[in-house]
Amino acid sequence: MPSLNSRVLEAGSWSAVPQPVIEGDGLRLRPWRTGDEPFLVGAYSDPAIQRWHTFVLDDEAEATGWIERVNARWPSEKAADWAVESQGELVSRIGFRILDLEYGDAEVAYWVAPQARGAGIASRALTVLTDWAREHGLHRLTLQHSTQNEPSCRVAQRCGFHLEGTLVRSLLHADGWHDMHLHARLLEDPVTPGA
Ligand SMILES: CC(C)(COP(=O)(O)OP(=O)(O)OC[C@H]1O[C@@H](n2cnc3c(N)ncnc32)[C@H](O)[C@@H]1OP(=O)(O)O)[C@@H](O)C(=O)NCCC(=O)NCCS
Repeated sequence: MPSLNSRVLEAGSWSAVPQPVIEGDGLRLRPWRTGDEPFLVGAYSDPAIQRWHTFVLDDEAEATGWIERVNARWPSEKAADWAVESQGELVSRIGFRILDLEYGDAEVAYWVAPQARGAGIASRALTVLTDWAREHGLHRLTLQHSTQNEPSCRVAQRCGFHLEGTLVRSLLHADGWHDMHLHARLLEDPVTPGA
């Protein structure tokens, strides 16, 4: 059925090239690769990551499967995921949990390994990815977090993702349904860290 709207980005415009390495503000966002398994198993053993991402990786074989799945996202143009390095060390994960090139929007998700928290990694990685998304034609980014997740709310606010509302009993966690904050950033505006 022909669409009456023009697409924001043409299908295939991102996947025509390999998933990029993105650098900025002392961080390097790169595709996941073989050898990242021990870091992933360690990160997913953290109670906070388990709580908010409702996921666990029991061993390196499961992590290998996870890497294969997330690296299939870039060619699909439906999602994308990056490992984050600081000074050559893996510290974090960030990506587009949902990506829609036709409408030019994406939902961001992230976590930071426990040993790397409190150093601005999440805020810097989100700003680097936001700048990249703007340069590559996206119109709007969103992110969601449980209303109980205060650190994630701070990351969103610090990176200029304004609170648009609360999604009531929206996501099932291990302890039941959580209300979720919906934050969004329109990419026409320059990023204002600390906003
Ligand atoms: C949320 C998370 C990504 C923050 O990562 P981080 O790199 O430590 O964040 P930053 O250093 O950029 O800090 C961002 C803000 O959160 C604040 N913060 C950090 N830990 C906090 C805590 N335990 N309680 C309240 N605020 C906290 C920081 O002070 C900072 O606020 P500021 O801008 O007012 O100074 C990290 O704690 C994490 O991975 N948690 C577990 C998984 C998770 O929550 N993922 C997100 C799901 S939506």
